Amino acid sequence: MHLSLKRLSSVNIFSLIGVAVTVSSFHKPIAVSSFLHLPNQQYHHRRNYNKNRTLKNTLKKMTSVEEDTNNNNDVVVETTSRTTTTPTTNNNLQPPPPPFANASESGEIPSFNGSAKAKATDFANYFCSYAQLYHQKQMLADHNRMAAYHAAIMGNSEAFKDKVVMDVGTGSGILAVWAAQAGARKVYAVEYTDMAKHARSVMEANGVSDIVTVIQGAVEDIELPYDTDSLEPEDGNNNDGEKDNRVVDIIISEWMGYFLLRESMLDSLIRARDKFLKPKQGLMLPSHSTMYIAPVTDEEERRMCQREYSSAMGDWTEFVETTRSTYGVNMGVLGPEFEREQKEYYLLSSRWTELHPESVLGEPQILKEVDMHTCTLSEARGITAAGGIGGDDGLFDFDVSPESTGDTLAHAKGGSPTDYPPVSGFAGWFTADFKSRTDPVGATHAPTLRNPAFLSTGPEAGYTHWGQQTFHLPTSIPLLRGEVTRLKGSLEMTRSRENARLYNCRIRYNTSRRKAGEGRDGATLMKGEDVENVYQIP
Ligand SMILES: C[S@@+](CC[C@H](N)C(=O)[O-])C[C@H]1O[C@@H](n2cnc3c(N)ncnc32)[C@H](O)[C@@H]1O
Repeated sequence: MHLSLKRLSSVNIFSLIGVAVTVSSFHKPIAVSSFLHLPNQQYHHRRNYNKNRTLKNTLKKMTSVEEDTNNNNDVVVETTSRTTTTPTTNNNLQPPPPPFANASESGEIPSFNGSAKAKATDFANYFCSYAQLYHQKQMLADHNRMAAYHAAIMGNSEAFKDKVVMDVGTGSGILAVWAAQAGARKVYAVEYTDMAKHARSVMEANGVSDIVTVIQGAVEDIELPYDTDSLEPEDGNNNDGEKDNRVVDIIISEWMGYFLLRESMLDSLIRARDKFLKPKQGLMLPSHSTMYIAPVTDEEERRMCQREYSSAMGDWTEFVETTRSTYGVNMGVLGPEFEREQKEYYLLSSRWTELHPESVLGEPQILKEVDMHTCTLSEARGITAAGGIGGDDGLFDFDVSPESTGDTLAHAKGGSPTDYPPVSGFAGWFTADFKSRTDPVGATHAPTLRNPAFLSTGPEAGYTHWGQQTFHLPTSIPLLRGEVTRLKGSLEMTRSRENARLYNCRIRYNTSRRKAGEGRDGATLMKGEDVENVYQIP
């Protein structure tokens, strides 16, 4: 089935080139820079910021394409920011090969139940970056992040005292050190990559290696030393007659990716929780997380992306002509595919942004809430808008007017009062709470956290390495004096077929305008067409 991209009114870049976005693009191989939730994605976009060329170059080197020559079975070791995976083919005589290059046979992240090939691909694409101190340091230098985790652990030392703690994905080990300092009896610091070796040194250097045991492996695969460390399940819990391995009091982890779900590490947390955490008394930290969306103005960036796209297409036209006139070969046949690539890259990829709070044009709305104590693997897969398991998950409905929001921004930018900033797109981000359990079982049995902590990656919170993901619209939506513009729609977020750690977002919306003071049920001045765009989160 092909769905045409419905356009906003007025001339836009799509109408000039006559491109239609199809549903299949939702599942196209997607461009990847690095899987890390570090502000290094989208090289072109970041060129203007360009605070860190070294990082860029390091990543380029680390992610260059390496064909696995010993295995022509297409282990996909990618990628530069522009490389895509190779589709596999079906063979009737043998069981079908995994449909995804960087996923288990059932489409999950390969650290659980993935074939050796899928695991190797996942390591090359995802884990290998986390094995670099350079990248661990980027996260350690994010003070919003650090302060929230520090407050959550050290500010609740009574909850940690004499407890068994697991740090899922310990990296350089910082959270495990804090857990030990907060009084934990035993801390298991689990890390898949060789960063585990550095974490051991950190434990030694900080005098906590008698409390913290660093275990190198995927949390999905490891076992704990139940007998040696006298690890006991909670009272009266027999786990239906099975040996009960759920002996951990607190799981701490920093697992969140761009727009919360990217990297899909939440799956590992759910598996760790179900395998190791005491079901009634156990605490997950963070305990809850929330995804937000808001309409934003970000015209400079939006227009820059469009200019770069136009420039790339102009360059292509010249290239085709030069190749024809100089070498006698017509490459024009490849134009549509080149155009698709460029469009995906410049126009249909979300952008890492550090938005000014005043760029936010409407009260942010919740897209999805995750309770870490009850969240299921199916919920972790994404956001199914409108009628999905999550009820209202993924729906938004904004009223935006220049008087209530953009006026001050126009003045700040030196514009006239009628020069209101338009809506350039939608931005998404997340918050994380470190608080007591709210699910019925946990609220009754689990210890109360006396000093809840909070982390926001929204524009109001200042810099975090997660920033916000901004989805630019093909054309901006002007805001008119004395009028309210309503933006009603949905955001659906699904894993990329080729790579279970990456996501695509389908944003559908509709605009309508009414006089200020008129209620939502009142007269409408204008109702726009339904618009649908599918973006990659690179
Ligand atoms: C975002 S980093 C956080 C590092 C550290 N906890 C911190 O806060 O600075 C996530 C870490 O989890 C590790 N990791 C991801 N999935 C894992 C898994 N399934 N098992 C073990 N480690 C994992 C990664 O290698 C990475 O070092």
